[in-house]
This record gives sequence, structure tokens and C-alpha cells, in this order.
Amino acid sequence: MTEQPPSGRRRLSIRALRGALGVGLASVLASAGLVALSAPAQAADNLGDAAAASGRYFGTALATGHLGEQDYAATADREFNMATPENEMKWDATESSRGSFNFSGGDQIVQHATAAGMQVRGHTLVWYSQLPGWVSGLGATDLQSAMDNHITTLMQHYAGEIYAWDVVNEAFQDGGSGARRPSPFQDKLGDGYIEHAFRTARAADPGAKLCYNDYNIDGVNAKSTAVYNMVKDFKSRGVPIDCVGFQGHFNPQSPVTSDYQQNLERFAALGVDVQITELDIEGSGSAQADSYRKVVTACMAVERCNGITVWGVTDKYSWRSGGTPLLFDGNYQKKPVYDAVLQALGGTPGGDPGDPGDDPGDPGSAACTATYAETQRWGDRFNGQITVRAGDSAISDWTVRVTLHSPQTVPTTWNGQASYDGSVLTMRANGNGSLGAGQSTTFGFTVMANGNWSAPAVASCTAT
Ligand code: G3I
Repeated sequence: MTEQPPSGRRRLSIRALRGALGVGLASVLASAGLVALSAPAQAADNLGDAAAASGRYFGTALATGHLGEQDYAATADREFNMATPENEMKWDATESSRGSFNFSGGDQIVQHATAAGMQVRGHTLVWYSQLPGWVSGLGATDLQSAMDNHITTLMQHYAGEIYAWDVVNEAFQDGGSGARRPSPFQDKLGDGYIEHAFRTARAADPGAKLCYNDYNIDGVNAKSTAVYNMVKDFKSRGVPIDCVGFQGHFNPQSPVTSDYQQNLERFAALGVDVQITELDIEGSGSAQADSYRKVVTACMAVERCNGITVWGVTDKYSWRSGGTPLLFDGNYQKKPVYDAVLQALGGTPGGDPGDPGDDPGDPGSAACTATYAETQRWGDRFNGQITVRAGDSAISDWTVRVTLHSPQTVPTTWNGQASYDGSVLTMRANGNGSLGAGQSTTFGFTVMANGNWSAPAVASCTAT
């Protein structure tokens, strides 16, 4: 990494780099010189930015029922750059009657997350739980077609908006047998249903990463080995799988084991990303901090561990609220464990989250910020989306410059006025320049990769 950025780039918002850095794009760092842009002198003071500095994301589960609570939304928006709908994309929420789909909750999470510059993990397509009764009552042929239709309809509805889907969730039993868990899918369709689900998913949205997700597979044990063998088999036969999700629900009876990193490493060696998808650790004080530190440190040590999601914003809304397993207490105050996690991610604790001015890239001190996210990838091209957000004052106009990577070209743009200068795309507002304080808008463009899939980098956002 020898490239030095032009000095002006040092003033770039760390937050503005989230999208470009945020999803395991280690190679992007090199090609875009973005590590240098994140300037060690300005260590991140929130979880998402800290994770982004190493090409990772740090996410949370979000629930629509709490988005209206100002502190909930503000804490989520400030700290995280990935969101997972806690219940809103599950089968019972999206298709409670056969063929009648309800996307309202999922859409709300996607809209909130996107406006806040977060990406989204889809959770979950095929799971024995939160499954409507009508699915369990179907015969094999009907069940197969219902499963295919469910996967395809959800993935196509959210095509381009989901970073990774938990295609199949919790298909293996606990205990020493490593057996499949009984479920309508397993019982009627047999072992092949998981492979079939992944193949169907790839066809439905080729741009989303496809994950298998489970709990109690965090260390090396019979259950994780059964999952490992399935992934190994899939990779050897070309069954499309991109990632494994390790839920990470821990408590004193089920602590983080000493082989945690080793387990991540063995999966990564199969050629899949590994992601911590539902992390929560019951406890408090330094013991809780130590356990979280172990998990985060292990992920940081494994190149293909490209993101961590905690299963909720605040203890008071956790599914295990009595165990106080999260990073913020019921009053949205940072717990001791927060600093441990931020430090393990490479960030610097101590910033006052109430003072937006403590990050020079924060909307509090910049007229506008711009955040890149890839929203879709297919064939020889991909779509990029930039979220432009006003700082703490209203703006009437904005201009964003985006640097492409040779030999990329841009055949199409939308929601802005485009002009080009070499590899720099300049987008000016086109009817969407007027933004209130903290408000955002988006514009997009298609990039012909021409063999270079590096993420375009935001070079500047200026506003009047
Ligand atoms: O929304 C209804 C509400 O209208 C009703 O009054 C109330 C009565 O019980 O229930 C509410 O729904 C609850 C829902 O959470 C929303 O709060 C369900 O009963 C409750 O079962 C559901 O729990 C969710 C659980 O999955 C269900 O399996 C938790 O929120 C959610 O955190 C949890 O998440 C799972 C992951 O998806 C998979 N891995 C394990 C993880 C923890 O169990």
C-alpha cells in the first residue's frame, strides 16, 4: 500500500467511506487507496466506521416497532453500517397466506437503513421456525414449489438492496450427532432441500451473497463439523454458497470457546466468507467486555471474516433482555463492553456521541457527506448508489465527485446531472438538491466493470 492520497482527500469523511469499505472488499482498499484515506490520525469513534477501516461492516438487527423511538434510531444510525431485519423478512411476516406477500416491514427496514447509509442482510428465507401453518401442511411437490416461489419472490422484490441473504437458517440439530433438524423441508424434501434452496436463490438474485446461518456452530463441535462438511461438499460440486453466518448467542453456560478463531478459519479456508450474524453475549462489566473482545479480535484476525452484526441496539429490546447482552443499555448509554468492541475494531473510545462535531466527516461539521454502496451486480456490470446527506444545516444544492477505476465506464446514471473528466464522474443535483438538515437523497449509476470490479470511491461532496 504505497499510494498516498492527494492532501485534500485527507479531509474526507470517514463516514463517507463506509459503503466503499464496508463489505469485505479488501482488494478495493488497495485499488482505491482508501486505507490511506481513512487517515490513522483520525481513528474512528463509532463501530461502523471502525469496522470499515479494515474493510468490514458492523451491523445490528433492527425492528420496525422501535424505529419511531428517536434514541433507538439515532443510536443505530450513528453506530452501524449494516442492518438485519429482526423479524420483518421471515416467512410468517412476508407470506402468512400462500401467494399473498407483505413486504411492508421489510421495506421499512430497507428504507431506513439505506437512508442512514447502511447496507442490509436479508434474514431469512427457509427456516423451520416462524413458518406459517399452511407451509407445514403441504405435500412434497407443493412444498417444493411453495419454497421456490417464496425464495424467488422475496429475492426479486429486494434485488439490488440486499448485501447477503441467510438462505437457509438453523437446519442442523444440536447435540453430538451432526444430524439434520426435523422440519417440513427436511422431512418431506430430504437432504437435497438446502442445495435446491441455494440454487434457486442464486437464480433469483445473482447479486446477493448467499449464506447458511446457524447457532452453536461457533466453535469446533459435531454440529459445526456437519455444517462444515456440507459447505465443503457444496464448494466441491459448484453449489452456489458465498458465506456462513455464525449467530453467536453466548451466555455463561455457553461461552465463547478457545477454538472460536480456529473454527472461523477452517470455514474460511473452504472459500466462503464468514460473518458473525446475531452476536449477543449475556453478562455485564469486564467479563462481558472480555467475551465480546474475543469474538471481535478473532474476526479481525481472519481475512474472510468480513462483518459482525449484534442482535439488537439496546438491552431493553433484546430477545434476551434479562441477560443484558448488547452494547447499549436501556437508556442508550454505552456499556463498558462498547469500548472493548470499538478498540478491538481499531477505533478510539472516548468520543461524545452527542457531539456530532467530534468527527470531521460527521454531518455535524460538513455541509454534506456522500456514501457509496453497490446495490446490484450482474453479468459484466454493477449498479452503485450514492447517498448524499446534508449536515447540520439545510442545503439547496450539492455536487459529488466519484472516482472510477480504469478501465471502468459508466453507461447510465440516474437522479443527477452527470459529467465526466477522465476517471472522475461528477454528479450534480437534478431537482433533488434541496435537503433539510440531516436529510438525504440518492443517485445511482451503472458501471461496466471491464474486468475491474473495484468499488468507485467518493472523492468529494460539496454543497451550497
Ligand atoms: O409482534 C407480535 C405482537 O403483535 C404480539 O403481541 C406478541 C405476543 O407474543 O408477539 C409479537 O411477535 C414476537 C416477535 O418476536 C416480535 O417481537 C414473537 O412472539 C416472538 O416469537 C418473536 O421473537 C423473535 C424470535 O426470533 C422468534 O423465533 C425475536 O424477536 C428474534 O430476535 C428472534 O431472532 C432469532 C433469529 O431470527 C434466528 N436465530 C435466533 C434468534 C433468537 O431467537
